[in-house]
Amino acid sequence: MSRAALAAMVGVTPITLYRWETGSTRPSPLAAEKLSDLGFGSVLQRETNIVSVPRLKSRARGGKTASHVFALREAGRSVLHTKGGQLSILAAPFVRNGPPDQAAFHQKLFDLQVSSNRISPSVLSHRLSMVEEVEGVGAPSQHLLESPRSIAVSWNSNYGTHGWHRYVGRFPPHVVRALLNLFGADGSTVVCDPFAGSGTTAVECRLLGIPFVGIEICPLSCLMTRTKAAFPADPDMLVDVARSFSTFYNKKWSAFLKGRQASSITHRDVLDRKGNPISAFANIERWFTPRALLGVSIAVESGMSLDGFARDATLLALSSKMRSIGNVDVDVVRAEYSKRPRENVEVGTLVTRQLHRMAADVAASLSSHAGLIGPPAGVTLHEASVLDVNLPQESIDYVITSPPYGVEAISYLRTHLLSYRSLFSFLGHDPYDTRDKTIGSEYINEAAPESRYRAVQASTMCRQFFSTSGGSSDSKYQARRTAMLQFFDDMLAVGERMARWLRDDGQVAFIIGNKRLGDDVIPMDTIVTELFSRCDLKFVQAIRHKLKTNNSNSQVPWQERIIQEESILLFKRTRRNG
Ligand SMILES: C[S@@+](CC[C@H](N)C(=O)[O-])C[C@H]1O[C@@H](n2cnc3c(N)ncnc32)[C@H](O)[C@@H]1O
Repeated sequence: MSRAALAAMVGVTPITLYRWETGSTRPSPLAAEKLSDLGFGSVLQRETNIVSVPRLKSRARGGKTASHVFALREAGRSVLHTKGGQLSILAAPFVRNGPPDQAAFHQKLFDLQVSSNRISPSVLSHRLSMVEEVEGVGAPSQHLLESPRSIAVSWNSNYGTHGWHRYVGRFPPHVVRALLNLFGADGSTVVCDPFAGSGTTAVECRLLGIPFVGIEICPLSCLMTRTKAAFPADPDMLVDVARSFSTFYNKKWSAFLKGRQASSITHRDVLDRKGNPISAFANIERWFTPRALLGVSIAVESGMSLDGFARDATLLALSSKMRSIGNVDVDVVRAEYSKRPRENVEVGTLVTRQLHRMAADVAASLSSHAGLIGPPAGVTLHEASVLDVNLPQESIDYVITSPPYGVEAISYLRTHLLSYRSLFSFLGHDPYDTRDKTIGSEYINEAAPESRYRAVQASTMCRQFFSTSGGSSDSKYQARRTAMLQFFDDMLAVGERMARWLRDDGQVAFIIGNKRLGDDVIPMDTIVTELFSRCDLKFVQAIRHKLKTNNSNSQVPWQERIIQEESILLFKRTRRNG
């Protein structure tokens, strides 16, 4: 039996079979059962992927890794048929924690990327996502910047400036780039992300020279988006920021301690320091040692003494290191602290090093994307609610976005609570303040009768779901149910706004996950599709996939439990005159 025939019978691709043979992955218990039914002998449970896969790396000593890697690499060769000609490519390396059928996912991304005739093959060959090499051209810009290892655990979503700050709801930049290619977005079109978050769409647009308009309600997320996407065209500027930060920091540190040991100061001493911009907040002594608090206080003061990008970069560098500075357990998504704060934290060194790293990322972004990258002025960001911003009618060509997936929005803002508390004098904001306006907020006070929700009127599936679910009288369940009804009303309002902003035939990629309400999985994708169809946004296709990357979204157990499946929903704005 050929490998292709066997693969078809087991329901996997030949590459997956190959990976089982080489030991780089193991079959799922279901696939193992099929193999056994086909007469390949029974597969022990410990031979399935239920147990952890042995690290390929550890076999390097036996000399096997090189040939595995080589063979896997060669399996990724294919020919893409673009509208303007063929491109022979080598797919980006497989990752051990990728989607179950990675080859199919690669193929899906490739098919999407070659479907537009707006980008010439020669430009596309530099813009391709998830491609290691294009024959006759070399590595596309993403590959040059990401420089992935031949065998990695997960896709690297932190390439270039993407990795400047962790963010729970982040989506993979590879998918955004593939969608930009699908749409054929270029310098003459405008892309909008009305839930800009930490700026994944913004960064990809900047790198590819596509004008971008973002909207984001949360000021810390806006800081991330601005800094990551609108960085200056000269990396040395960040080196200068690092140098002057270090000078400022050391001067303030010595002036305050005046020869005292840092271990002898108290939290109160730091809070009373002249120039200290941090106000006392609940449990401050559990979050920080006095020494760490002094470092954070000076770093915030330093950032706030600056303007524009220098200020943003300094404060972002500090915020990105908060988990190494404060007493935050890095393994949990919610901000938590244990009994004793982290000792011997060198805030000055951490921030200075981070700023130098950021300078290197800017240099790499510029060189890998030479000829593609746009100016910082191409990035516009509105720090407001999408429900309050009025963009000019028909000013947007494409939307690529992912809203909060239901009612956990505030929980993931909470993961950055220590940054919010420490940067309060700059952000002027507490995540709990905007809860009325935050879509997906769990703090909806009053339940209205179901018939009062516009979404229930507009979507048959919404009506059916909420009329058949809701048996439990548990108050938490009822509160979540009300919040979900409000969420769908908000989605309808977002659909109406996007339809107004989009040009005729403009396109939308809306990434959304199905979540649960009690025991029921909410058919989020169907409801959103029905709601948008009421707003002149015609459904084109859904790409369902668990977008497993190494962003924290997919590593956090509670997210895994709540999000059942993610879909990229594609829509097209219908023409206004028929
Ligand atoms: C899933 S996250 C988007 C993450 C983003 N795609 C990224 O890669 O970083 C959803 C975002 O919507 C924002 N948000 C919630 N309510 C909003 C509103 N009313 N207007 C604008 N943004 C809002 C949240 O603050 C959050 O950053």
